[in-house]
Amino acid sequence: MAQQVRGVIAPGKNEPVRIETIVIPDPGPGEAVVKVQTCGVCHTDLHYKQGGITDDYPFLLGHEAAGVVESVGEGVTEVAPGDFVVLNWRAVCGECRACRRGRPWYCFATHNAEQKMTLTDGTELTPALGIGAFAEKTLVAAGQCTKVDPEASPAAAGLLGCGVMAGIGAAINTGGVTRGDSVAVIGCGGVGDAAVAGSLLAGAGKIIAVDIDDRKLAKAKEMGATHTVNSREKDPVEAIRELTGGFGADVVIEAVGRPETYEQAFYARDLAGTVVLVGVPTPEMKIELPLAEVFGRGGALKSSWYGDCLPSRDFPMLIDLYRQGRLDLDAFVTETIQLDQVEQAFERMHHGDVLRSVVVL
Ligand code: APR
Ligand code: ZN
Ligand code: ZN
Repeated sequence: MAQQVRGVIAPGKNEPVRIETIVIPDPGPGEAVVKVQTCGVCHTDLHYKQGGITDDYPFLLGHEAAGVVESVGEGVTEVAPGDFVVLNWRAVCGECRACRRGRPWYCFATHNAEQKMTLTDGTELTPALGIGAFAEKTLVAAGQCTKVDPEASPAAAGLLGCGVMAGIGAAINTGGVTRGDSVAVIGCGGVGDAAVAGSLLAGAGKIIAVDIDDRKLAKAKEMGATHTVNSREKDPVEAIRELTGGFGADVVIEAVGRPETYEQAFYARDLAGTVVLVGVPTPEMKIELPLAEVFGRGGALKSSWYGDCLPSRDFPMLIDLYRQGRLDLDAFVTETIQLDQVEQAFERMHHGDVLRSVVVL
């Protein structure tokens, strides 16, 4: 029997979000209905609402979620009712070229639920990143559910579904940060702070946090940064070089998504150092890089997609580290809110004192 629950809808371009009754069909083959426990508010949800991603309104927002599987459709073996899961937005196909080459984070044949969730008048909803978890329940592909330790706090676990995984993965999976490395993180929002936390986990020797906002730098220090640089007050490239004996950092992580910060990252890396772009640029953004510098410095210029993560490997591993007290996921949760406070949470995103607002159901 289809069921009706409450969910947060973005009805049209730049219109305020509102709570509507949504209809969730029974899970079909390969699908699961998940009772959502928590869902973080991410910039991507705001971009959906503003029309920056697609025009397929109305959207059912929310995609950084954890919950309990309520029911599964035919042929589902990876999860069962009662499982505590973190949702991921890339349920990989396992068969495409990227998957076969062991790079499933580039899989472009990822599965979402085939059936549509709708409004009560039958209007089909587009779930944000194929998830749509600002709702009491949501319908996803079973492969979007990753089982993790049920003792973990749902608010902390859900964060792994997007921004925090992107940052930790940028450091560990893409940047390959290892013990003793010097790391610089440019931009210390939720993603950059997660890169700081990931670098700490990986045993980095120096973790230099760069931001234009002192409050962000103070928070980055709590997350494990050993040094901070306010790039409004000091040239960050010079500062990073000074802090690394004149050389530059082994790994520089750009977590803003701007040409000027990418350039800073480029010049702040040591010989054979790695630059990781995790901030998402707009299609128009361009930079010029002198080839002699690319050649002379060597190393690698990389981008990180969803932290180049393998949910089935990384989510349970990070939850275990969290449960052991070695990864402070709770520190990312600035406030917990109700479903009807998502609009205000979007407004607060720009104020600079929120890492994550998390809807708790
Ligand atoms: N130099 C350094 N830091 C900057 C600069 C700059 N020129 N401009 C902005 N910042 C800082 C902000 O002060 C803020 O702390 O970058 C941080 C950006 O953080 P958020 O806005 O919270 O964004 P976040 O969710 O962390 O995402 C960062 O990663 O995944 C992508 O799409 C995401 O492009 C975005 C980026
Ligand atoms: Zn694939
Ligand atoms: Zn997100």
